[in-house]
Amino acid sequence: MHVFEKPEDMRLWSRSQKAAGKRVGLVPTMGCLHHGHLSLVNEARKHSDAVSVTIFVNPTQFGPNEDFDKYPRVAERDLDLCRQAGVDAVFMPPAEAMYATDASTCVTEDRLSAGLCGACRPGHFRGVCTVVAKLFNIAQPDVAVFGQKDFQQAAVIRQMAKDLNFPVEIVTAPIVREPDGLAMSSRNAYLTAIERQQALGVSRALRSAADALAGGTSDAAALRRIMADELARHGLRPDYTAIVKPDTLDPVSQARPGDVALVAAYCGKTRLIDNRIL
Ligand code: PAF
Repeated sequence: MHVFEKPEDMRLWSRSQKAAGKRVGLVPTMGCLHHGHLSLVNEARKHSDAVSVTIFVNPTQFGPNEDFDKYPRVAERDLDLCRQAGVDAVFMPPAEAMYATDASTCVTEDRLSAGLCGACRPGHFRGVCTVVAKLFNIAQPDVAVFGQKDFQQAAVIRQMAKDLNFPVEIVTAPIVREPDGLAMSSRNAYLTAIERQQALGVSRALRSAADALAGGTSDAAALRRIMADELARHGLRPDYTAIVKPDTLDPVSQARPGDVALVAAYCGKTRLIDNRIL
């Protein structure tokens, strides 16, 4: 497995793969890899001949009071997992290789970024779009795989890639859950044993909404109340609950199968997100 720190080395590798007739896949990550990430690698392999992973805790997508400093960084473990997963190349740049001190350009997607996490975390999706655009330019993938767990992020990146004519196919892979239903996330590492139990309220809230819709409750306000009640029962503090159309992320007043229920909630100091296609 190749490990590159310099953008030019990563790009040369990608170009050499393409020159050899291979399709290059990319899984962008912030490290602290778990089974969810490895499922993205497996998905990338289905769509490409050479799989690359990027590991970069991107400072520009964290707000001033967010967890950038304490975000778990476990490079050697991540590299071992990538090796075991048969990844061909890892791009792991130092921050200064990604952002020059005089950098003054960013990428903003305006529509899909506006609500949900975008409303709660101003500037977050600008940071995500900027770094993903840079990673696309550096790694030059033919296909890039993102997790459905970050439903809004995947939609925003798909739009960004289309608007900016990136020749990159965007693939979304299903959420990977712990046996008890908690969606896998690097941030789960922050949870204490008690919080880990409380955190189950997030996936249970989504399940309650799905069950209620299946039982005939389609009023979105009622479904959101059901989710909020479930979060409260588990001692979680909601950032938002929402039911939206999957392509536009517009809130619906009457939910239908295929709409998406989303939750962001604080479990102690840890912000968890999850979603479910109803
Ligand atoms: O989903 C993530 O881990 C990050 O937002 C991403 C896409 C790697 C950009 O930093």
